[in-house]
Amino acid sequence: AQQAHLTSAWDGLADDLPRQIRACTRCPLHRSATQAVPGEGPLSARLMIVAEQPGDQEDLQGRPLVGPAGQLFDRIAGDAGLDRNAAFITNAVKHFKFRPRGRQRIHQRPDAGETEHCRWWLESEINLIRPVVILALGATAALSLTGSGTDLMQRRGRAEAGPGGIPVLITLHPAYLLRQPDVDKKAAATDQFRSDLALAQRMS
Ligand code: URA
Repeated sequence: AQQAHLTSAWDGLADDLPRQIRACTRCPLHRSATQAVPGEGPLSARLMIVAEQPGDQEDLQGRPLVGPAGQLFDRIAGDAGLDRNAAFITNAVKHFKFRPRGRQRIHQRPDAGETEHCRWWLESEINLIRPVVILALGATAALSLTGSGTDLMQRRGRAEAGPGGIPVLITLHPAYLLRQPDVDKKAAATDQFRSDLALAQRMS
């Protein structure tokens, strides 16, 4: 009976956080986005993956990393032996920030103030999951998790101290690979990304 009681208390806490995130009006980004996108994955996850913010597809579907950058992430993670389904995946900022252009919605990087406002939710997710290692995808996640906005490519492939002393492994964002027009640069960055994902898997 004790066990059943503990399980239901835990479930209540876990349901409550996504519900609170979906109701968030702490910054103006909620006004134009379709919905907030909370993290998803097992509560027992040892690895937490933090991307930047929902994109167009994530905003519509309400799930993190399911659009083109997420699909590229899944492909390279598969090559690196990293199981996405075993990780808890979330974003540093929970609402999509964009600029309308005709019928398109063009992604805009969240600024330091928006990232800071949303850090409350990211830290709540970290406290809920208590991962062994956190993988930061790109500069916004790295800033939110370490407080440092210095050059990402100098820092990638290594762990820094994150919230509560949890190691934060820094890597690039998969959207960088999608945008990179130079074939050789893209291949080199893809190799780096794959090796960072393999390291995250080994550390978790
Ligand atoms: N880019 C992100 O950073 N996060 C998503 O969820 C999708 C695209």
